[in-house]
Amino acid sequence: MRDRDHPTGPGRRSALLRFGGALGAVALGACGRGPESTAPGAEFALDELPPGGRRLLVVDGDPVEVTHTESGLVARSLVCTHFGCPLRWDAAKNQYVCPCHEGAFGADGRPVAGPPVRPLRVLPVRVEAGRVRVEPAPS
Ligand code: FES
Repeated sequence: MRDRDHPTGPGRRSALLRFGGALGAVALGACGRGPESTAPGAEFALDELPPGGRRLLVVDGDPVEVTHTESGLVARSLVCTHFGCPLRWDAAKNQYVCPCHEGAFGADGRPVAGPPVRPLRVLPVRVEAGRVRVEPAPS
């Protein structure tokens, strides 16, 4: 059983619903972009994500953030690895923060505070003909 499916946890769908609300209030302001798609994978034009930029997507029903780092594009799940709450990026702290149990993850996705012990999931990213495609994480 995955943590996000834990019976006492908030579950994946409720996490997504809460993410949707939080997205409008906080994440959109930070990133300037909304979810792209509810399809299993999601894509967008590479030139829409300049170096240093962040972009929010929905991939296979889960919130995902794509960052354009010096070493390339990285797609991370924004579902907390503790009990599945939606995360948000806190630029002042340089961390992904979880509102449920005060968990936090560094910019590299590793847990740095609170109960989470596993890093954020990284999803496959493919760039082809100027389009960025993010695939669901393998199970
Ligand atoms: S769900 Fe518990 S710290 Fe995120």
